[in-house]
Amino acid sequence: MADKLTIEDMATFCKAKGFVYPTAELYGGLAGFFDFGPLGVEVTNNLKQHWWKTFVQGRDDMVGMDGSIITNPKVWQASGHVDCFEDVLVECKKCHTRVRGDQLLEEQLKIQADGLSREDITKLVRENGIRCPQCKGELGEGKQFNLMFHTTVGPAAEEGAKSYLRPETAQLIFADFKAITDTTRLKLPFGIAQIGRVFRNEIAPRDFLFRCREFEQMELEYFIHPKQVNDCPYLKDVLMHRVLVFSSDMQEKNQQAKEMSMKDALDKKIIKTPWHAYWLATMHQWFIGLGANPAKFRIRQHLQKEKSHYALETWDLEYEFPFGWKELQGMANRTDFDLQQHTKHSKKDLSLFDEESKERIMPHVVAEPSQGVGRAFLVFMFDAYADDKERGNIVLRLHPLLAPIKAAVFPLVNKEGLPELAQEIYHDLKKEFAAAYDRSGSVGRRYARNDEIGTPYCITIDFDSLKLKDVTIRDRDTTRQKRVKIKDLRDTLRKLVSGELSFEELKVV
Ligand code: GAP
Repeated sequence: MADKLTIEDMATFCKAKGFVYPTAELYGGLAGFFDFGPLGVEVTNNLKQHWWKTFVQGRDDMVGMDGSIITNPKVWQASGHVDCFEDVLVECKKCHTRVRGDQLLEEQLKIQADGLSREDITKLVRENGIRCPQCKGELGEGKQFNLMFHTTVGPAAEEGAKSYLRPETAQLIFADFKAITDTTRLKLPFGIAQIGRVFRNEIAPRDFLFRCREFEQMELEYFIHPKQVNDCPYLKDVLMHRVLVFSSDMQEKNQQAKEMSMKDALDKKIIKTPWHAYWLATMHQWFIGLGANPAKFRIRQHLQKEKSHYALETWDLEYEFPFGWKELQGMANRTDFDLQQHTKHSKKDLSLFDEESKERIMPHVVAEPSQGVGRAFLVFMFDAYADDKERGNIVLRLHPLLAPIKAAVFPLVNKEGLPELAQEIYHDLKKEFAAAYDRSGSVGRRYARNDEIGTPYCITIDFDSLKLKDVTIRDRDTTRQKRVKIKDLRDTLRKLVSGELSFEELKVV
């Protein structure tokens, strides 16, 4: 593999180690669809669980929900997705290759083309003499292409049987807003979160998990009182948090992104609302807390032409992927657009009663952190991957909470009572952790195998273990080893994995 890991290298690595495979490769796969293998599913489960613990269970202003993938199609008419969830498609007149117009312009002209209209794209293709990337044939006019997958519900073919696979989880939060607020004791400000699968018929899926047609989102809608847009009680927790900021103004003036604190960004009115600053910093901190490299993130404000139909202001948390700075998480200020739309279309009042003013008010969504699970997975994998020349193997330095296997147990040799004791320890650890048992090859080879899949701790059972009732625990990142009593092993591992105890702090017996 090349020195700088490409997205193709990452896809090859993930397939070789059992993290992610192209779906049903047996039949040639299907563009834009992937299957997570035994290790990949552990990592994505771990990261979703951590997100849920942090943003739902760990807070008293948040609840969760899990909506259905297919819902009443009126939801998608009200949200605007049926009419507006579109990209511009450009087709070659000769070989009929279809490409996404904005991506074609970005590649060929090196401009920011997201959000350009069909007419603008057609004009720019013509003016710049852009030809088909496959056969150099002439390209036709740009056409609107709706990204919603549709299906028929039940055996009926009549009008109304048509529905859609959801393209985002967010709308179910709005559609269930009344049911949730009627059955909980939530008081503004509060959030509703959801993790689930979504489907988008992308014109050009690409870059492995970065742009696919089926993926998972972790989204939360944060609702506030419309008159309290500037009152964020949590702001002080993030004011000094620093991040690279790339405002729309900096982009228009061709300036570089600047590192600044959230306080500076708010004082200079670069970020308009404290809530937006709070959620951007909080999400950046979530990634850093799980071992991502803080320097590879920036927040970028959407240009006017880029903003979605529902957004007042949008910032993306971006990450420097090998193929450039790209959106990792979108965060729009959706105001009361969605609740108003669903009130209008359903003819049901979605406003809340405000005890203080004794009036009914329509809450605003001041920020909607919306994160693709696959993109988060890529960030953690890229930041963890290290080709360790000294060791002569890859070391996947995943945060222990994300690592697919927390501990691998080895008997030093496969005889004289060591496998029996190792099996006992392994089964005890398995009651609590994803653990592995590895008896084949030299211990060095077993360390290397586990380094490559990110196992943070390897536990070796040797002859002293039989006599002294202790084992060696080896730290993946430093390769240091310490002896731990078998009776303390589970407790020690729990503390090491959760971060309560560092390997340096671990006392040797
Ligand atoms: N509810 C708002 C919403 O869905 P979005 O910017 O369209 O906003 C949110 O999507 C996030 O979902 C993105 O930031 C990205 O992490 C992920 N995402 C979007 N399209 C994707 C795709 N085709 N493949 C993988 N992830 C995608």
